[in-house]
Amino acid sequence: MTITVTPRHPALGAEVRGIDMHRTIDAETVQAVRDAWTRHLVLVFPDQRISDQEHVAFTRHFGEPEVFHQTSLNLRSDRVREIFLVSNVDEQGRLMQPSEPSQKQLSSSRQWHTDSSYRPTPSIGSLLHGIEISRTGGITQFINMYKVYDDLPEGLRRQVEGRRARHDFSMLHRLTGAPPPTAEEQAAMPPVWHPMVRRHPVSGKKSLYISSIYNDAVEGLDGPAARRLIEELTAFSAQPEYMYRHVWEPHDVVMWDNRCTVHAVTPHDSAERRVMHRTTIVGSEPVVAA
Ligand SMILES: [Fe+2]
Repeated sequence: MTITVTPRHPALGAEVRGIDMHRTIDAETVQAVRDAWTRHLVLVFPDQRISDQEHVAFTRHFGEPEVFHQTSLNLRSDRVREIFLVSNVDEQGRLMQPSEPSQKQLSSSRQWHTDSSYRPTPSIGSLLHGIEISRTGGITQFINMYKVYDDLPEGLRRQVEGRRARHDFSMLHRLTGAPPPTAEEQAAMPPVWHPMVRRHPVSGKKSLYISSIYNDAVEGLDGPAARRLIEELTAFSAQPEYMYRHVWEPHDVVMWDNRCTVHAVTPHDSAERRVMHRTTIVGSEPVVAA
């Protein structure tokens, strides 16, 4: 298989043609995809009308798929346990209201974050399959955090070098009003500290590592000061020159690197169905400070 890779934005994001996820992918092609991923951070594979099983099988070329630890809100598929449901339609086909617990929690994805940063070894990357896409919003925006780190103003750079931030899954409940995790879910995911500047294990490059929906503390700062710093860093990051905005077409599969990007989705009309299935690749090592 030969792939063609066409950039979609100067900072990050490229379209990949020549992959058919229904078929087995040979090792050489997997390596070509890995190389394109290292270079472009976000890859778009158009027109992949795959089943959840095929989605999981493709993910396995890049690592072990995560099984979401929280089961109380039905965001994990009952059919294929490696699938996380980024949808406003349940598995019985019912459109859900924004006031429902799972939808409240998902609303956090409108703020900048990187997936599973609350884990001791955070996720490598995620693959999102657009099954029923939004036409009124639902644009997924990505930021190149290498470039953000390189361009950080001196005042901000001094505040993140050598420092760690805490990432806590239960921030979602405090942020969105969704029900708190159960005692068991809480015990499974205690808060963790990660360096705010990390080195990517493949590219060797440094990036800013923050996740505004999970960061609840920063070393050496009180609560409000920590919050202000995360907000300031997030605002600096969210500039068009660092950002690729993915406007979905049905059956796009978008694969991003959680180690050097953050993402956020734009709101959409809640009367419109949006069905997206995600796999998340388990982290291979702890976050390395740079
Ligand atoms: Fe996300």
